[in-house]
Amino acid sequence: MSRHRFEGKVVFVTGGSSGLGEDTCKLFIQEGATVFVTDIAERDILQRLGSDKAFFHRCDVSNPKDCEEAVAKCIQQFGRLDVLFHNGARLAKVSTVVDHDVALFQDVIRTNLCGLFFLARVVIPQMQKQGHGAIVSTASTAGLAGDFGLCSYSAAKAGLINLTRVMALDHAREGIRANCVCPGYMITPMTAPFRDDETVHQVLLDSIPIHRGADPKEVGQAVLFLASDDASYITGQSKQIRNSLTCLQQPEPSGLPLE
Ligand SMILES: NC(=O)c1ccc[n+]([C@@H]2O[C@H](COP(=O)([O-])OP(=O)(O)OC[C@H]3O[C@@H](n4cnc5c(N)ncnc54)[C@H](O)[C@@H]3O)[C@@H](O)[C@H]2O)c1
Repeated sequence: MSRHRFEGKVVFVTGGSSGLGEDTCKLFIQEGATVFVTDIAERDILQRLGSDKAFFHRCDVSNPKDCEEAVAKCIQQFGRLDVLFHNGARLAKVSTVVDHDVALFQDVIRTNLCGLFFLARVVIPQMQKQGHGAIVSTASTAGLAGDFGLCSYSAAKAGLINLTRVMALDHAREGIRANCVCPGYMITPMTAPFRDDETVHQVLLDSIPIHRGADPKEVGQAVLFLASDDASYITGQSKQIRNSLTCLQQPEPSGLPLE
């Protein structure tokens, strides 16, 4: 059954030109949204989305000025911003803290955690004016429990989850909700290297109850739910999407060797 939960709504997406971001943009468009796609690279995303309701603006979420300019541009163009889907992030090479480069650690925190802060501080005032708004961020099971060798990534995603909880508390009475999705393993360009080695990939699949990685659209559906009025009484939550085991705020060790 096709639904139109985002008719007349403007959705601002980061990391929108690949993987989960791209597939979720498609779902938002299917449900009537105007989508303001941002990313560090365009990658012909507008051609792939093939919709006159999609627009692209370059934005590096680790740069506060980029975030301010992109949000201002979106509001100037459409006069509103109903949903922030903050999804852009980078992975770091697998290493313990001993071997992790200081500059790399700082960059991962700046991109994967500070990006939400840089965006929210300019998005929320617009949502306050409107009297409503929904913020959904892509965290990770690594942010709920930590994962082997992913020190900067896990720390950043954990911070994203707690920043989301604080924003949910601070802005609940203003009609603004903030939630996270926490995927396990998704089949996207980010995880392509995991599929290069058949043995490593098999170990990863064996740790997943449903024994396959998620199609990003399956996670995108959870993003749409949290961004929609269907989730009007849900805020401050981290929705774990562990490849068939989906629960609300039930942290458990992911046990995955990679992501
Ligand atoms: N793939 C997985 O298994 C998995 C699991 C858990 C969480 N995640 C999270 O899902 C989200 C989407 O990742 P994906 O798997 O679709 O990977 P992806 O690499 O296909 O997409 C990530 C996007 O983020 C963009 N990006 C990177 N740095 C950026 C920056 N500084 N500013 C703006 N955009 C930037 C990239 O250009 C890319 O388009 C990420 O937040 C990732 O951490 C992925």
